[in-house]
Amino acid sequence: MAKNTAKEQMKIVIVGHVDHGKSTLVGRLFYDTGSLPEGKYEQIMETCEKRGMPFEWSFLMDALQAERDQGITIDTAQIWFKTKKRNYVIIDAPGHKEFLKNMISGAASSEAAVLVIDAKEGVMEQSRRHGYLLHLLGIKQIAVAVNKMDMVGYSEERFRVLEKEYRSYLASIGVTPTFVIPISGREGDHIIGASKHMPWYKGPSIVEALDKFTPAPGLEDQPLRFPVQDVYKFDERRIIAGRIESGRIKVGDELLFSPRNRVVRVKSIESWSTKKQPTEAAAGESVGITLDEQIFAERGQVISHVDHAPMLTNIFRARLFWLGDNPLVANKRYKIKLGTSEFPAEVQDIEKVVSTDDLSHVDATKVERLSVAEVVFHIKGLAALDPFDKNTRTGRFVVVEGYDVVGGGIIDMKGFADQCVGVREIKSKNIYAVGQSISPEQRAKYNGHVGGILWFTGLSGAGKSTLALELEKRLFDRGIQVYVLDGDNVRRGLNSDLGFSPEDRSENIRRVGEAAALFADAGFIVITSFISPYKADRDIARTAAPEKFNLIYVKASVETCEKRDVKGLYKKARKGEIKEFTGISAPYEAPESPELVVDTTDRDIDDCIDELMEYVQQNFIDPVRQNQRAARDHLGEDDVVRIGKVAG
Ligand code: ADX
Repeated sequence: MAKNTAKEQMKIVIVGHVDHGKSTLVGRLFYDTGSLPEGKYEQIMETCEKRGMPFEWSFLMDALQAERDQGITIDTAQIWFKTKKRNYVIIDAPGHKEFLKNMISGAASSEAAVLVIDAKEGVMEQSRRHGYLLHLLGIKQIAVAVNKMDMVGYSEERFRVLEKEYRSYLASIGVTPTFVIPISGREGDHIIGASKHMPWYKGPSIVEALDKFTPAPGLEDQPLRFPVQDVYKFDERRIIAGRIESGRIKVGDELLFSPRNRVVRVKSIESWSTKKQPTEAAAGESVGITLDEQIFAERGQVISHVDHAPMLTNIFRARLFWLGDNPLVANKRYKIKLGTSEFPAEVQDIEKVVSTDDLSHVDATKVERLSVAEVVFHIKGLAALDPFDKNTRTGRFVVVEGYDVVGGGIIDMKGFADQCVGVREIKSKNIYAVGQSISPEQRAKYNGHVGGILWFTGLSGAGKSTLALELEKRLFDRGIQVYVLDGDNVRRGLNSDLGFSPEDRSENIRRVGEAAALFADAGFIVITSFISPYKADRDIARTAAPEKFNLIYVKASVETCEKRDVKGLYKKARKGEIKEFTGISAPYEAPESPELVVDTTDRDIDDCIDELMEYVQQNFIDPVRQNQRAARDHLGEDDVVRIGKVAG
């Protein structure tokens, strides 16, 4: 291999149908840039002469690949060439299956791509699929090489037709090629410089185009992402440990813990490997930090700087590669692992399925093994994440079914809002979080269910309070610790200072969110019944206890509610006697991704309650049973009895 002298390196991928000249182009790139190992060219020349055939550029690629295959480690499973500007690593993907598998491991995170199409054959289905592959991988810097221009007499007309056709296809899948370049791999036109055969073309050659692309910034130079792996307690100190995925961290930095939105400063950085404690650490390092204030920190939280925070969301679109023996289906429970955090998840929508055999689109309600799909995941809790094009480390995830990784993918947040509600200031200083003497697990074991929040939102008259009270009764009868917080009641006490202006409603919901979080922490299932008309306010309420929060949309249209008008308020509102009345003179923002929708329009109460009971069973009772079963399997009956006795 040529010597690695240039500093900068860029990963590229070259895709295209073999017959369209991909191998020839690669062979040319190596030869023309002087990157071939010594004697390689001569060796191929000799072979070709012996066989009585013209020099075959694609043999070079095969030879390089054979050499590469002898490499010992995975890291060397790449071939590279150099230009004056930098070194290029070609991420090799013999077929699209390998390519997509790389997607899960992150090996295919190329920074740029060359897509080869054939000037003679034109834009065939194959080329379209390769274009789609680049779209899937989120690659933005793309040079389209229109190859075999020698076979069409270097015709500008032919080139322009193909350029137009391919640009419009790529545009339809949201991809804009940076350059479209007429080349001949065999004749060496527009590989490194200008071509005497095509004076009409004024753009860059392949190598010039590649050199114009910008390498992705190194992980260290990206915003800080430090997922918490563990919290250790040493004497009085608490050390928060993990691996820095991107960015840097310095002693004294102000840090944001997501999704709880707490801000603290770094007091020290503890390194395992050096004696002298560092004042700084960067991407790739595993470190521990201590903070100037005790806050509630736990595995799964993501640490960033305040002004470059990750997004918070309970919904995201994914480009997913599926390996599971069972197909992926909607409305089934999976587990999603994002860095160090884990979430129960369901597929809300399967938007597109692509078969990896031929990359054709199929209309499907499930995703079969070895398929690629664009799906919308809905998770329980709030994840701190980044779109893949912003951060390749925190923008990917894997799907787990049982104990197996069954899929993985990259995140695309287009069309979904950041649910981050800004940093929450704590006015008081010198306060220290105090732990509880009873753990949530102990409470859950005692109660037979976990604590949590069922946050009912919906118009006045939609049925929130009716359902809340009925559900409370049914749950209480089953021995469940349950309590209802209702707008009309809370507004007489805790929130008696608040009216119905947008600001007052926000504060109403914020306080109730905190109160509900306390109840949930105490092990209760708390049902809140508030219109909570603004999405942003509901998002704030969620952040008080993200993993325990369940948004339930009690749905009925304004017309239906007005017809019911149980309290006679709609009538008054219509007469102008009540100002800012939700649905009439103040807005209601329907939730986009609630955990559950209970449509009360034409249903009787029992039917709605059955649906809610089922939800409670699955989310609050079953997890405790499963844990107990798992503990029993793991420890054996005797151990459980013993633990039970000690605890009891
Ligand atoms: S919220 O918007 O801040 O969530 P909340 O649920 O606490 O409202 O209170 C709603 C209840 O207050 C309604 O059920 C109704 O009985 C009463 N109410 C009085 N004025 C209004 C108003 N302008 N808009 C909506 N509800 C009102």
